[in-house]
Amino acid sequence: GGAGHVENFEYSFEGPFGKYDQNQLQRGLQVYTEVCSACHGLKFVPIRTLSDEGGPHMDEDQIRAYAAQFDIFDPELDDDRPRGPADFFPESGLENAPDLSMMAKARAGFHGPYGLGINQFFKGMGGPEYIASLLTGYTGEEKEQAGVTFYENTAFPGGWISMAPPLYGEDVEYADGHANDLHHIAEDVSAFLMWTAEPKMMARKQAGFVGVLFLTILSVLLYLTNKRLWAPHK
Ligand code: HEM
Repeated sequence: GGAGHVENFEYSFEGPFGKYDQNQLQRGLQVYTEVCSACHGLKFVPIRTLSDEGGPHMDEDQIRAYAAQFDIFDPELDDDRPRGPADFFPESGLENAPDLSMMAKARAGFHGPYGLGINQFFKGMGGPEYIASLLTGYTGEEKEQAGVTFYENTAFPGGWISMAPPLYGEDVEYADGHANDLHHIAEDVSAFLMWTAEPKMMARKQAGFVGVLFLTILSVLLYLTNKRLWAPHK
């Protein structure tokens, strides 16, 4: 028990060389679409980014079909029309359900800021762990307060959340036959939400690696140059 308890989950994108798992992101999108999107939005995420390499990497036809299921009001037509890949995901349909676009970063920090932050470097930022722990952290207890029902949750700070348990396990049927128990579904949707919050993580890690490599080579060259320059004066 105890509020604010976050479990460690192993994600493919942790560590300096971690990468998003394309299939996991696609499964997570499915969970988001079939369950979470009933209340939550992703209004900062352009639908076309579902084709990103290093992300879900879906093909154009899949994305067009996906986008078309959500209508949007078009001021030029003065009417609703189906969304296209250039549109964003819908915003939250339920007023008090927060937008989930950046949630995995907004709730980061589980592995830090304690110590040297080295855990964050190797184990990730903790945002998706928090979300997965929240989804798996319901105890089954509920209470009424001022006409609102609260559900006991071991991950939510304060211990009582107004979101009813959205997942129980076997809530979705995966086309790839992946396990759909509560633990796995929570893991998949939280990985997907990490991607929405940081779609360029792969590019960032790669640029960082090239930078470190470059500086390492530069250091070696400077060391050798320095030795040679001072050699006559020894
Ligand atoms: C809050 C995730 C489904 C209603 C939240 C939060 C997250 C989240 C991360 C923020 C918790 C925090 O502030 O730290 C999800 C995911 C879902 C899902 C991943 C699908 C698997 C739903 C559904 C509903 C809903 C279906 C409505 C029936 C809410 C509400 C809050 C909330 C009202 C605010 C709770 C509070 O602050 O007390 N959700 N949610 N969620 N969610 Fe969901």
